[in-house]
Amino acid sequence: MKKHVVVYKKLSAPLMERLQAQAEVTFIDDVKGEGLARLRDALPGAHGLLGASLRIDSSLLDLAPALEVISSVSVGIDNYDVEELTRRGIQLTHTPDVLTETTADTGFALLMATARRVVELAAMVRAGQWQANIGPAHFGTDVHGKTLGIVGMGRIGQALAQRGHCGFNMPVLYHSHRPRPEADERFGARHCSLDELLAGADFVCLTLPLTEQTRGLIGERELGLMKPGAILVNIARGPVVDEPALIAALEQGRIRGAGLDVFTQEPVATDSPLLRMANVVATPHIGSATEETREAMAACAVDNLLAVLAGQPPANPANRLPS
Ligand code: DGY
Repeated sequence: MKKHVVVYKKLSAPLMERLQAQAEVTFIDDVKGEGLARLRDALPGAHGLLGASLRIDSSLLDLAPALEVISSVSVGIDNYDVEELTRRGIQLTHTPDVLTETTADTGFALLMATARRVVELAAMVRAGQWQANIGPAHFGTDVHGKTLGIVGMGRIGQALAQRGHCGFNMPVLYHSHRPRPEADERFGARHCSLDELLAGADFVCLTLPLTEQTRGLIGERELGLMKPGAILVNIARGPVVDEPALIAALEQGRIRGAGLDVFTQEPVATDSPLLRMANVVATPHIGSATEETREAMAACAVDNLLAVLAGQPPANPANRLPS
């Protein structure tokens, strides 16, 4: 008998067919309001869950006594209580690797756009306000040759380092829980304390996961350590930054600007002061959002899920179950 899978993220037709060939699938289009009620109704018979961007807490897990696997279509696993899943014997899987380069592209795009004021100045042209050659009031700041600071030197951090070092001749500082000799060797990167990085970098890029240790990591003190001309780029998770402290630092001109793909609340509130600031480039959590990468992530998530349901080890486990 086929196992039952609840999918709460839209899949391409080929992937849905592949899944349906091996499992009984309930598809839920939107997990807000009525959709969440449908999800809850489907959980008692579910052996697998596949989706993203939904906090799966104990109240949902309690409804799913037969659950064997949650296959997250994301690399980040901050929507799950990993310890609790392990305790319940539920395998969590995620989708690393396939999104590394695309997410690093997003980070570098934010860095460039903020430094060169691309969004602000493009909006000026579009509004018909380009009426004379621009002068110093509209100048940006150079990227090439400046110091790139990377907080979190995992796969995405290293892909950013590659862009900065090989493409833009940038010295690279990084802070992570352990030195990465491969990054030192490939990108001339230097491991240092967070404070040293903040004081030395022209661009501070956050690429680390959200955990209880990293929540609020960049607060008033840390922002105060950054150079006045520095730019903060966040492609990690919003709560890694103390958002009110960031707003204050930007309002007071204590840093040059920020490129933000993630926010404490998503979608970000339309009245957030961040959205009124010309020196903030804000994007709607598009880190991995290209056609190719999202399809690759979904395929990876389907593979992970089917492996677990077939009793095989998944390629990308995010927790370790006792064997
Ligand atoms: C990820 O894969 O974790 C992206 O940030 C999307 O949530």
